[in-house]
Amino acid sequence: MLDVRIQLNPHPVAPADRAATLARPVFGESFGDHMASMSWRDGSWGPLELVPFGPLALSPATLALHYGQSIFEALKAYRGPDGAAALFRPATNARRFEVSARRLAMPPLPEGTFELACGLVAAADRDWIPTDHGAALYVRPFMFASEAHLSVRPAHEYRFVVIASPVASYFGEHLSAISVAVETHDVRATPGGTGAVKFAGNYAAGFAAHGRAGAAGHDQVLWLDSTERRWVEELNAMNVVFVWDRDGRTVVSTPPLTGTILEGVTRSSLLELAADQFAGGPPIDEVVEEPTSIDQLRAALADGSLREMFACGTAAVIAPIGTLVEGGVPRRVGDGRPGPVTTALRERLLAIQHGTGPDPHGWMRPVDRILVDAGIDPHAVRP
Ligand SMILES: Cc1ncc(COP(=O)(O)O)c(C=O)c1O
Repeated sequence: MLDVRIQLNPHPVAPADRAATLARPVFGESFGDHMASMSWRDGSWGPLELVPFGPLALSPATLALHYGQSIFEALKAYRGPDGAAALFRPATNARRFEVSARRLAMPPLPEGTFELACGLVAAADRDWIPTDHGAALYVRPFMFASEAHLSVRPAHEYRFVVIASPVASYFGEHLSAISVAVETHDVRATPGGTGAVKFAGNYAAGFAAHGRAGAAGHDQVLWLDSTERRWVEELNAMNVVFVWDRDGRTVVSTPPLTGTILEGVTRSSLLELAADQFAGGPPIDEVVEEPTSIDQLRAALADGSLREMFACGTAAVIAPIGTLVEGGVPRRVGDGRPGPVTTALRERLLAIQHGTGPDPHGWMRPVDRILVDAGIDPHAVRP
């Protein structure tokens, strides 16, 4: 059993202020009343602590600030129709966190810690979970080199922390299509690099290209491979999915995991849902992971065989792509609006997440169950 210590926040945000925040939650701007924290020093982990949300005291020599040894995850907690809080596929994020830790020469967490830390925060901050369609409590686990030292080497001390922030639906009331610019200068990831893990520096490296795309009026960047600058990879924080008409058959495809693409939890979930042929959704004849070149996309947009295109990730769930811009030339995808496969997959996944539709794969993990499985009485974290 893990050594777990619980200290509830004696000064939580006043209910009226919390309600005002939840009425219009802005991504990443406000946070719950609690956080989880655990420290590693010279080969062993200390206790997992649930404590009031608050600042971290750091030395200016903190290694992560200098050499970037820092990784993170992202997952969401939802409240079902019965009010119970549940996390979407936390074990999948836990596995990816471990892969990220190993790639960055960081210690893996003890078995079960990731899920329990997220469960503790979601349970203690259950009143921070918004219930509107598409809204959720965004849970952000991260780990960084916390040792105060300036040597260029893996740290001897690490800190694992989980915080949570309420978020509204990415699209507000109405789903709209985004405009995506193909990046032809910078690259996000290289073979043998860190593109397949959630390493903090991957994101900073994409900011300049993202800024250029934004200045030109586009929402996101579509990255190409670094070797041939030809194969479509993904967006800054979302995977990309295509819906093709191939001789009258509807084919859903996404680029394969070549080592430079993040294995998105949303991506994997949507591939399974598309293959399930869920009731009420549009017919999908085939689901494949296959490379797609930018030339292929250009030709398929011209002859109409690329029907739909969307981006997917924890934050937006699914973002329909209505315009693809290459070399400043915009090309419309389909009629430029969210297509039927895109919309149906999004609604199906949201129904699972909000507990309003069947969950045949058992993806929702009730937070009370996580606590009970770890030997913790859920009442111990009720503020
Ligand atoms: C680079 C990148 N690709 C894809 C994704 C989508 O992954 P997920 O569906 O697990 O959020 C993310 C977001 O986490 C990301 O940062």
